[in-house]
Amino acid sequence: MRIMGIETSCDETGIAIYHSEKGLLANRLYSQAAMHAEYGGVVPELASRDHVRKILPLIKMVLSDSDMELSDLDGIAYTSGPGLIGALMVGGALASSLGYALGIPVLGVNHMEGHLLAPMLEKTRPEFPFVALLVSGGHTQLVSVNGLGDYQLLGESLDDAAGEAFDKTAKMLDLDYPGGPALAKFAEEGDADRFNFPRPMTDRPGLNFSFSGLKTFSRNLIDKHRRKNGLLDLQTCADICAGFQEAVVDTLVIKCLRAIEFTSLKVLVIAGGVAANERLREKLEYALKIQEAHVFYARQEFCTDNGAMIAYAGCQRLLAGERNNLAVDAFPRWSVDTLAPPLGEKPWT
Ligand code: KG4
Ligand code: ZN
Repeated sequence: MRIMGIETSCDETGIAIYHSEKGLLANRLYSQAAMHAEYGGVVPELASRDHVRKILPLIKMVLSDSDMELSDLDGIAYTSGPGLIGALMVGGALASSLGYALGIPVLGVNHMEGHLLAPMLEKTRPEFPFVALLVSGGHTQLVSVNGLGDYQLLGESLDDAAGEAFDKTAKMLDLDYPGGPALAKFAEEGDADRFNFPRPMTDRPGLNFSFSGLKTFSRNLIDKHRRKNGLLDLQTCADICAGFQEAVVDTLVIKCLRAIEFTSLKVLVIAGGVAANERLREKLEYALKIQEAHVFYARQEFCTDNGAMIAYAGCQRLLAGERNNLAVDAFPRWSVDTLAPPLGEKPWT
């Protein structure tokens, strides 16, 4: 089965083709980051318009990369949420029209399920069941994963997502957009112990998170260390980055260990943009080894938004017989724990 995946939930247009036996055949991504950088964050209307501009050229590219014609496709999967409504509609409308024209099945896929399954695109892949830490710009969730579509929420952020906290702190420090990778780069030059960042909600039981306090802690440090010209010296900026990153990473590691203990599972998957963070990977690997547990993650380009994860997730569900009708599904909010295993035709089709 050859499935085209279409990702347009936010500021990346991602298109890929996944073959159920041969694996990933082609993968292309266009990031709008440079366009949104001017505004310091994603401008939804600009994002939708840019997806319209980029989606067809990218589809042509993946077809050419994999030496295929549109008529060789057996199905199309698109991100139907969560995400920006206009951006989602672009991918959904194109997927549904193409599916109708080609007479092939089309399926809307949950973006976070795509992230969660992205490590399956790698050679060394986890087996069900496992615990997943989903850490992106909009979500921080710990999920117990029993199989495809069988997800139980163990804990989540009560306020900012981890990626959002990275982005907001980076913005306060006038770092490049998108903030997460820029802050992580700066942190390499910093002393993580200079400032005493808290590890929020680790002193009480449970698997929920809260990251908005870290943002406020950074804000106060920045205000305190500003020089007369209003700027921070570079070392102080790097030290704040290092201290902030270490606090987020430690907090995530502590909760992951708790989740492993709580579920008695020995496999952890980390997925979503923040899973690209080297310090998080390094500290989790070390901490889990002591517990004789293993951590799995995808290569960095498959941690952040991409079409390959949508093609993969869609392929698994289409193989299991799940189908949409031709309605364009677009759900701005759609929690991964409300999904179900594939059941074939949806009741309303
Ligand atoms: O999964 P993703 O690409 O988009 C969403 O679904 O939200 O995640 C984007 C988030 C952003 O907040 C970005 O700053 C963060 O992931 N991110 C990172 C790193 N790379 C991306 N955060 C920390 N360290 C990184 N290396
Ligand atoms: Zn994402």
